[in-house]
Amino acid sequence: MCGIVGYIGNRDAYPIVLNGLKRLEYRGYDSAGIALYDGTKIQLCKTKGKVADLEEKFSRQMATKCKIGIGHTRWATHGVPNDINSHPHYSNSGDLVIIHNGIIENYASIKKELINRGYTFYSDTDTEVLVNLIEDIKINQKVKLGQAVQIALNEVVGAYAIALFDKNKPDEIVVAKLGSPLAIGIGEDEFFVASDATPFIEFTKNAIYLEDEEMAIIRLGKDVNIRKVKDDSSVAPYIQKLKLNLEQIEKGGYDYFMLKEIYEQPSVIKDTYRGRLLADKGIIKLGGLENHIEKFTNADRIIIVACGTSWHAGLVAEYIFEDWARIPVEVEYASEFRYRNPVITDKDIIIAISQSGETADTLAAIKLAKEKGAFVYGICNVVGSTISRATDSGTYTHAGPEIGVASTKAFTTQITVLTMIALKLAKVKGTISQSNYRLHLRELELIPSNVEMALQKNNDIEEIAKLFKDATNFLYLGRGYNFPVALEGALKLKEISYIHAEGYPAAEMKHGPIALIDEQMPIVVIAVNSNHYDKVVSNIQEIKSRKGKIIAVVTEGDTVVKELADYIMEVPNTPETLSPLVTTIPLQLLSYHIALMLGRNVDQPRNLAKAVTVE
Ligand code: AGP
Repeated sequence: MCGIVGYIGNRDAYPIVLNGLKRLEYRGYDSAGIALYDGTKIQLCKTKGKVADLEEKFSRQMATKCKIGIGHTRWATHGVPNDINSHPHYSNSGDLVIIHNGIIENYASIKKELINRGYTFYSDTDTEVLVNLIEDIKINQKVKLGQAVQIALNEVVGAYAIALFDKNKPDEIVVAKLGSPLAIGIGEDEFFVASDATPFIEFTKNAIYLEDEEMAIIRLGKDVNIRKVKDDSSVAPYIQKLKLNLEQIEKGGYDYFMLKEIYEQPSVIKDTYRGRLLADKGIIKLGGLENHIEKFTNADRIIIVACGTSWHAGLVAEYIFEDWARIPVEVEYASEFRYRNPVITDKDIIIAISQSGETADTLAAIKLAKEKGAFVYGICNVVGSTISRATDSGTYTHAGPEIGVASTKAFTTQITVLTMIALKLAKVKGTISQSNYRLHLRELELIPSNVEMALQKNNDIEEIAKLFKDATNFLYLGRGYNFPVALEGALKLKEISYIHAEGYPAAEMKHGPIALIDEQMPIVVIAVNSNHYDKVVSNIQEIKSRKGKIIAVVTEGDTVVKELADYIMEVPNTPETLSPLVTTIPLQLLSYHIALMLGRNVDQPRNLAKAVTVE
């Protein structure tokens, strides 16, 4: 997720674009850039690092008053964060400059074609390909910029929010949107474009939010000309009067980043499998894995090293990999693994999971494994992070920046990547039937809508939170694929509400924890449709006979547990193997509401840090 800003009007564009980028840094902060037309030439400056680094660097170029400008703060998805991969990007002629938030999936084939036509590329980004495709069409089909953009966007596959201008026509900005947000601020003879309204809310509260597959030609002195990308037909602009304030908009209208990130899960799970999960073709494409498949299929075992929530994602992977790909898996706390002198051979595959890509213990575990000759595969969310660069190969989650300290969308996107890897390996090894393989591809594609449905139970879950916010202990129980989800649910509650909570395998309750159960003890039980369902029902009956208060996560339409539990949180019917992606949702929301009711700082809980870079 990146942040884009543009301005055209009679003020000086530089401070407007620069401050706009500062307001959007929560969307991505690994590099930043700006391009302004000063009346004779384009002044472009971009740098790895934060907007403050850009501000320091740009001032050396003596910025002059400019009436048009665009700026970008990057969350890398293609190409590591560095100066050359930062946006804006020039076209080969130097006439066009573009900024882009999104992913062009078919950029490689377009790039190859443009190289054949003599285009030169300086960055690894998909965005530079797009601006040169637009230029190629503009020149060869002799059309205006807006028309060239419309034609080009019908050739690309992926997601985009773009803004670009031509230095030969500096009274016009062209924007377009598919999958990534784009707002147009309408001022008095001035226009703003941005990923959200934060960059322009102080100048105007009149905004147009483009819909998917819409584009706009924004020209000084004219009305915004909105077109449909598909057929260039005209769209009547709908101007909204914004009521949100600056802080609310940064959080997308949510009170906390954590809630925003919980609700982002349908879209970021889709972003994570976009271009990788091709269910119709029965294909999974994972660039980082393709050249190492043999290592995985011939491995003696897979050792997963991680911490916290990422470790829980690893536990889910253990079930998936062994169930489908029949590869032995061990899941290790990185902090234990690195010190216990483990047996590691060059026949081992290490999978390191880390949202931040900076967790010290996980990094140390990777170094130890590499010293012993193991192949290390990384699953990170931050492109170019230390761990992503320390591993031999890997797959990025495309969750976008996770600002809330409590991990939510990182967990579900990590499981999405791990599921794709396991499915791909199982297919190659022939340990999964073709029908089961194709079924799971289609079911994985349905997960975002299942998560969406689970999120719709938020109000019911908030009511349950009210009843249990004063509890001093919680027990979370789950079996099979959902045992790790029980652990994750307990961690979520602990770390943001400060209420003690323990996750346990449901069957293990009888070996001790059952002594804790009384009418003061809420027990959250994950009791969705699964091979273990009847056993979980028995566990619920054991709890009930000891007067425990039962909050059950159930499959919609469940009638059995509904009769036994005190409260239920429903999720849509999902194959057990993919159910962690959905059953975790009510647990995230339960923790969020309890913490909020207790007045906790949900985004920055006490004693915690987003990345534990110390040992
Ligand atoms: C989870 O909500 C916590 N923020 C924490 O346990 C976190 O998962 C852990 O520190 C690992 O972080 P990483 O994924 O960035 O390596």
